[in-house]
Amino acid sequence: MTKTKVAVLISGAGTNMAALLYAAKLPDCPYKIVLVASNNPEAEGLNIAAAEGVPTYGKSHVGLNRVDHDLIIHDQITQAGATYVALAGYMRILSRDFVEKWDGRMLNIHPSLLPKYKGLNTHQSAINAKECVAGCSVHLVTAELDDGPVLGQIEVTVLPGDTAESLAARVKMAEHQLYPKILAEYVVRETNPEYLILQVRKLALAQPEAHEVLSHGMPCFGIIGGKKFAYVSVDHHGDGKTALLVKISGAEEQGMLIDSDGERYYRPAYFGDGWVGIRLDLGDTDWNHVGDWIAKSWRAVAPKKLAKLMDVAADF
Ligand code: GAR
Repeated sequence: MTKTKVAVLISGAGTNMAALLYAAKLPDCPYKIVLVASNNPEAEGLNIAAAEGVPTYGKSHVGLNRVDHDLIIHDQITQAGATYVALAGYMRILSRDFVEKWDGRMLNIHPSLLPKYKGLNTHQSAINAKECVAGCSVHLVTAELDDGPVLGQIEVTVLPGDTAESLAARVKMAEHQLYPKILAEYVVRETNPEYLILQVRKLALAQPEAHEVLSHGMPCFGIIGGKKFAYVSVDHHGDGKTALLVKISGAEEQGMLIDSDGERYYRPAYFGDGWVGIRLDLGDTDWNHVGDWIAKSWRAVAPKKLAKLMDVAADF
């Protein structure tokens, strides 16, 4: 199994990072931790990660502006080859640039049942509000603090006489269960054929006069009353791949693409030289790029009149 590479950002104890890291040691865990980085070079969690043989990086933010510090961290993450970021008690507000770069690929854990009690002092706030139930949430990171779609939550009962500390300790135990499970589910969705078909469907049906049919059991997209411009191939003849098939100019382009990245591009059986297969299940699919491929393929088969009409509309 190819494991998805994840970088974890911490600021302190790093117990959530440790939960992610130990879960990653299980043979069927779909992710592995390739870097633990911190804005606090003294963070205790860095020692835990280093002891487990995980590369660590500490760089204080003191004296640096937010954007510059985030850039340094971003470089470390990309150099480590990570395609996902897990924030685990990273107590820094992130720059908009950084959040945008990791859009849809950065998760955070927060010790409350979001949208309740964002920010700090969550446990005391829950106790003050006489909540019977507190808990924790894992969510995708967006530009707003502790916002973004919630991916999973665990409720924790508030006991009579709970203090912020006693509640925090039990919520932490719940956090350690929640984060590894949600991160695993999240990274796996990118190799899940149903998810991949859905992404292609959105992009293909956004093309003018596009419709979907089933062709030889494959979801297939064409121009109404015209030619096909995209197929999704799922485990075709047991090849184990989920891929997008799109039109290309011919054998030369096909050869060039396969030479440039033989893992991603391939010659689709039975389709000939006019098509190329693009693997979607490698866990690092750039969906903007896939969108460009689909648009290009649509253009290759679109009747001249329709393509021209689109050009006129685009110029407008
Ligand atoms: C965790 O409780 C985490 O939910 C919280 O910081 C703690 C870090 O503990 N994060 C936030 O409050 C983010 N808004 P850890 O270092 O032991 O994982």
